[in-house]
Amino acid sequence: MKTILIMNGPNLSMLGKRDPKHYGSGTLADLENACINKGIELGVKVQCFQSESESAIIRKLHNSMGVIDGIVLNAGAYTHYSIAIRDAIELIKIPVIEVHLSDIHNREDFRNTSVIEAVCAEQVCGMGVKGYLVAMEKLVEKYIPSDDGKDPSDDTDPLAEERAAINEINKEMIVLFERRMKHVDRIASIKAKYGMPTQVPSREAEILEKVGQSVDSQYSEAAKAFMQEILRLSRERQHEVNKGK
Ligand code: DQA
Repeated sequence: MKTILIMNGPNLSMLGKRDPKHYGSGTLADLENACINKGIELGVKVQCFQSESESAIIRKLHNSMGVIDGIVLNAGAYTHYSIAIRDAIELIKIPVIEVHLSDIHNREDFRNTSVIEAVCAEQVCGMGVKGYLVAMEKLVEKYIPSDDGKDPSDDTDPLAEERAAINEINKEMIVLFERRMKHVDRIASIKAKYGMPTQVPSREAEILEKVGQSVDSQYSEAAKAFMQEILRLSRERQHEVNKGK
């Protein structure tokens, strides 16, 4: 699972006490909880970090190499003058999205400049806490490479979406298959104990009929063939379990 780091710089620990006109009324914990929930929705792990100190932020950026896949960074006032943080972002080669709760382009002049902007993948500002969630979405959709090594912004593969859905279904099917096989193992032992036959044709016919009826009619025959194969594997497994008994 990929990990996104939510990094907040100086004075963001004081959210809830800062000017609500720019920063809203929620606390840092509210903000971090919203990011954690977004992470669940996006299927990524979320780590949160806040510090008032430039050196701690730089150290955290360095230590993110190899462990963090994408960063949402609100560097607070350091945004406007910390070349040291800029250099750290540049060297770690992790996609970083710069966020600001307020619209830094429509406030005092000294906030108009971001010295980190050029080394960040994108800047999101003026959207409040929502901006962090938007940044997380952008990281997942555009900047964090997936496990198959494909560029996430490359949507030229017309099969990508369908294949991803099928991969998910395969995962679920294998879990169900394993659960089913565990029952088969137990059934095999019980049958051996009571001297019952491995194959019960009437029971198999009943299963196949139910399967045929429970899917859309165009898949009925294929579903029966699929289940027949599972029944065959179950029989094989029962023999295997009871071999030598
Ligand atoms: C801020 C904007 C900065 O100018 C300011 O120093 C902050 C917060 C924001 O989230 O809007 O501390 O980064």
